[in-house]
Amino acid sequence: GITRHYTLEIKMQNVTRLCHTKSLVSVNGQFPGPKLIAREGDQVLIKVVNQVSNNISIHWHGIRQLRSGWADGPAYITQCPIQTGQSYVYNYTIVGQRGTLWYHAHISWLRSTVYGPLIILPKRGVPYPFAKPHKEVPMIFGEWFNADPEAIIRQATQTGGGPNVSDAYTINGLPGPLYNCSAKDTFRLRVKPGKTYLLRLINAALNDELFFSIANHTVTVVEADAIYVKPFETDTILIAPGQTTNVLLKTKSSYPSASFFMTARPYVTGQGTFDNSTVAGILEYEPPKQTKDAHSRTSIKNLQLFKPILPALNDTNFATNNISFIMPTKALLQSHYSGQSHGVYSPKFPWSPIVPFNYTGTPPNNTMVSNGTNLMVLPYNTSVELVMQDTSILGAESHPLHLHGFNFFVVGQGFGNFDPNKDPKNFNLVDPIERNTVGVPSGGWAAIRFLADNPGVWFMHCHLEVHTSWGLRMAWLVLDGDKPDQKLLPPPADLPKC
Ligand code: C2O
Repeated sequence: GITRHYTLEIKMQNVTRLCHTKSLVSVNGQFPGPKLIAREGDQVLIKVVNQVSNNISIHWHGIRQLRSGWADGPAYITQCPIQTGQSYVYNYTIVGQRGTLWYHAHISWLRSTVYGPLIILPKRGVPYPFAKPHKEVPMIFGEWFNADPEAIIRQATQTGGGPNVSDAYTINGLPGPLYNCSAKDTFRLRVKPGKTYLLRLINAALNDELFFSIANHTVTVVEADAIYVKPFETDTILIAPGQTTNVLLKTKSSYPSASFFMTARPYVTGQGTFDNSTVAGILEYEPPKQTKDAHSRTSIKNLQLFKPILPALNDTNFATNNISFIMPTKALLQSHYSGQSHGVYSPKFPWSPIVPFNYTGTPPNNTMVSNGTNLMVLPYNTSVELVMQDTSILGAESHPLHLHGFNFFVVGQGFGNFDPNKDPKNFNLVDPIERNTVGVPSGGWAAIRFLADNPGVWFMHCHLEVHTSWGLRMAWLVLDGDKPDQKLLPPPADLPKC
C-alpha cells in the first residue's frame, strides 16, 4: 500500500435547500463532504482542522482500526474532541477491508451535515468478485433540517417525545423534485443502455431506516458494510442508518431517453407490518455455492464461545442491560491507557439483565434503569456471542446497532422473546452475513458473534441518533494481548486534550 494524505477543514458554509438558507458545519465548504478514496493496504493520514466554534471529532465508520484505536473518532470514547482552531491527524492503515464505508462527525448531532463517502478499492491488480462495472456511483442518503441541529437535539432530548422529523430526505445532499422548491436540487445519474453501474449506497440519515428502489429496475446486492456477500437480486433495498450496501444496476437496452425515479423512503415497523400473527413460509432451494470473502480475517468456525451475554435494549429509558450510558468528560481510551480509570469509568458491566427479561407484548417488568459509564471488559481474543433483545415498550422502531472497531457475524435474528434453549439451534454458523451495523427488529432480537482481536475501547450504540442521545449506547474494553503485535500502539503526540 501507499500513504495518502487528506485535509478536511471543518468550516461554516451557507447552503440553500427547500428555499431555506442556513449556515451549516461543512467539510471543506462542501455538503455532503468530499469523497475520500484509498486502497486496501494503504495508510491514510487525514488532518482534520477545526475552524468552527463547535468541538469536532470524525469517525471512520466501519474501519477496523486494528491497534489504531486512537484514530476511531467518537468524542470522549477514544479521544477528546478537537477544539476550535486546533487540528488532529487521524492515522490508520486499512487492513483486510475493501468496499463502501463512510465518515461522519461523532459529537453532538453534527453528523447531520458532516459526512461523506469513504471508498476503499481492492489492492491494485485485485479484481472485484463480479464483472467490472462501467461506472461507480456513491449515493449517500441523508436528512435536511431547516432548523439548526442544536435546536433539534435540544428539542429531542428535553421533551423526550422524539425529534422533529427532518424537512426532507436527500441523495448526495439533494432533496429532489417531490419536495417543494427543490426540482433544481435533484441527484441525476446519466446512464448508457446495456451497461452495469455499481451504486455505493450509504445511509447517513440521523433517525430513519430507508427503502431504496428504482422504478422498473432490479438491482443485485454484492456487498454490505464493506464485505462481499453472495449476490442476490431485489427490487427494494432496506438500509438502516450506518449501513452501506453496494448494488449492481444493469441498464436495459429498451429504454431510449426514458427516465425513472430512484426513491428512498423511511421505514417504520408499524404494528401489523410483521408481528407474531403473520404466517410466513420459506421456499428453500439448495444453497448456492458459497463465495467466501477470502479477505475476511475471521472465520465463523474459529469462534470458540466465551460466554453468551444478553443486554436488553430497553427503549423506555434507552439503556443496555438497564444501564443508561453516561458520556464521560474524559476520553475512555486515554483513561484506560494511562491507567487512570478512577472516576471516569467502571469496568463492571452487568452480564445479564438486573431483572430477568420477559417480553410478552405488554410492558415488561425491567424498566428500572440506572446511569453509569460501565465498560464491558474482554481479554484479548475473546470470542463473543451477543444477543441483543429489543424490549419494544415504545413500539415502532427497530434499532440499527453499530459496533466500532469490528465486523461481526449475524448468526440469528427473530421476533419476540429470544429463547436461549431453542433459538441457538437455528443459528447460521455456516455462511452468516458479516457487517458492522445490524438491525435489531422491534420486539425481536439479533445474535452476533465477533472475535475481540482489536485492543482498545470500542463504542457500540444505536445508529438512530436520537436513541444514542437517550442512552442506548455502551462501550467494550478489549485488553492487550501478550505478544507485541497484540497491543494498542501509544497515542499520537497531537491527540486532543479535554
Ligand atoms: Cu457511524 Cu458510532 O458511528
